[in-house]
Amino acid sequence: MISSEAKKEIDFWVSKYPEGRESSAVMQALTIVQKENGGSLNPDLINEVAEYLEMPAISVQEVATFYENYNHKPVGKHVVRFCHNISCMLNGSDELISYLEEKLEVKTGQVSKNGLVSVKKVECLGACVGGPMCQIGDQYYEHLTKEKLDNILEDLT
Ligand code: FES
Repeated sequence: MISSEAKKEIDFWVSKYPEGRESSAVMQALTIVQKENGGSLNPDLINEVAEYLEMPAISVQEVATFYENYNHKPVGKHVVRFCHNISCMLNGSDELISYLEEKLEVKTGQVSKNGLVSVKKVECLGACVGGPMCQIGDQYYEHLTKEKLDNILEDLT
């Protein structure tokens, strides 16, 4: 269920668009609802967003499944979104993702045993010059190495 606080946040984004264009706020709405739901969406929440924005549920579903920003199964407190697109791959992302999986004892898409971290492979995050890179929350981490990853993981609480 979408809380009244979340609805207020969604209304803020809706107010940025002309009347009748409420659906333009769908990505923000999904982001807000996902955050409120511990980092993932489910069909009920997607339907609620559709209802709230007066959109067909299938249109919201299309957005929610097209973009990699949205998770459709439970995630850890922190999601390491690791780019595996061309620039990052050529600079060693595959090796680092394997290192991360081994260190956390998870496969991509899974949550670490302590529930703290999950790893997700994503397409280009627009920071190709900094590859290999990942995103955790709102923060980008670039020019990654195993040592940098160790330090980043140590700081996650
Ligand atoms: S290829 Fe990794 S950020 Fe663009």
